[in-house]
Amino acid sequence: MSSNPTADLRAAIRSIPDYPRPGVMFRDITTLLGNARAFRRAVDELVQPWPGAKIDKVAGIEARGFILGGAVAHQLSAGFVPIRKKGKLPRDTVSLPYSLEYGLDAIEMHRDAIDTGERVILVDDLIATGGTATAAVDLLRRIGAEVVAAVFVVDLPDLGGAEKLRAKGVTVRTLVS
Ligand code: PRP
Ligand code: ADE
Repeated sequence: MSSNPTADLRAAIRSIPDYPRPGVMFRDITTLLGNARAFRRAVDELVQPWPGAKIDKVAGIEARGFILGGAVAHQLSAGFVPIRKKGKLPRDTVSLPYSLEYGLDAIEMHRDAIDTGERVILVDDLIATGGTATAAVDLLRRIGAEVVAAVFVVDLPDLGGAEKLRAKGVTVRTLVS
């Protein structure tokens, strides 16, 4: 591994053309997750601006955001909150529909997952159109969270998602474009 974290992380991500639909270049982070040094480095880099900060909860978006979000929560000594695809959570939920690069879905969280004013960092592997992350921020704010930042390993800047989030007043950190 070199001392250039961006190059190392970029090299650890695999690109698959025409998956899951023709015309989509799928950025596959399973190769990064399977590489111990790249995985550790990605998590360390995601939390780097917040050493010792009081972060109450890390919210991770199903499914790939769970893997990174759990590690980030451990690193920040924060609790973990799952933001799930519709119909997976057993108690009272808040829910929002959203669209993404290759489809439509809805996400949900438990209404009592966060106390009013708690400081939350949102985590996912990738931001593309920002449909998923924007819906997640709206849900978090609806239940009273203070969204400190949204962090992603991969940004697909041509699809504009990170800019969309920043326009909503969210601090966005991404590692590889
Ligand atoms: C991917 C990715 C993000 C989302 C980004 O998840 O992990 O959550 O797409 O796209 P957007 O910025 O256009 O909304 P996907 O819905 O494929 O689900 P998965 O993690 O369960 O594979
Ligand atoms: N989610 C939305 N667009 C994606 C892409 N191009 N690669 C991986 N995950 C995605």
